Amino acid sequence: MSANALDLRGLRAGYGRYDVLRDVDLQVAPGEAVGLLGPNGAGKTTLLRAVMGLVKHRTGVISIAGTDVVRMPAHKIARGLAALVPEGRRLFVDQPIEDNLLLGALHLRRDKARVSELLESVYALFPVLRDVRNRPAGALSGGQQQMVAIGRMLMSDPTVLLLDEPSLGLAPIAIGEVAEALERLREEGRSILVVEQRVDLALRMCDRIYVLAGGEVALEEQARALGEDGRALIDAYLG
Ligand SMILES: Nc1ncnc2c1ncn2[C@@H]1O[C@H](COP(=O)(O)OP(=O)(O)O)[C@@H](O)[C@H]1O
Ligand SMILES: [Mg+2]
Repeated sequence: MSANALDLRGLRAGYGRYDVLRDVDLQVAPGEAVGLLGPNGAGKTTLLRAVMGLVKHRTGVISIAGTDVVRMPAHKIARGLAALVPEGRRLFVDQPIEDNLLLGALHLRRDKARVSELLESVYALFPVLRDVRNRPAGALSGGQQQMVAIGRMLMSDPTVLLLDEPSLGLAPIAIGEVAEALERLREEGRSILVVEQRVDLALRMCDRIYVLAGGEVALEEQARALGEDGRALIDAYLG
């Protein structure tokens, strides 16, 4: 049996001595797209940052494709184990798009062939970026900037892809583009954990859903069991 792409067991994580997450169990199987929902302050961002090693206080098991990373420093986790599209994207808006993409592959820079291959795969996924690759990232629309952020994540060749509210603050057309991009990644067989406020989008993009409430897992269910609009889910946990 192959290991889960991501496996959290009894995860506690937080700030100072305060546990935001208490005893969280969550798995992403290889090739699975998993949605993480929950009200503001539930600990969703903290969970993604804990996987990346960006939250200092964390205990329990955080395993990526069988490698325990709970004591691994963030810069090592970022070398191909996990990559995060943070909330708000955090691009270098004055820098060319291609430079923003290449930043994701810093640890691979000695392997020029691999870097070009990854760059080609990002341009194949988002052809619109190739035409504008020398323009500053800040000149793009919000949806295209999100494509750059997703592309930068892919450039590190990660085992598990983490996205924090990729649709937040985007216009409806851009949200559609981002959702399509994630669906394509899912079809490619990537392992994905995405935090999403829009329940309908999460149900459309994901195989399985977790609801986090008060730092604990309140629900874990197959997306198709939750209906198209997730009305009951919203009423019970998110309303
Ligand atoms: N850097 C931080 N220092 C202290 N507390 C924090 C920090 N970041 C988040 N928190 C607290 O942790 C809890 C969970 O936050 P967060 O993980 O951002 O939730 P979500 O992403 O689900 O909205 C909140 O109570 C928040 O105030
Ligand atoms: Mg958050």
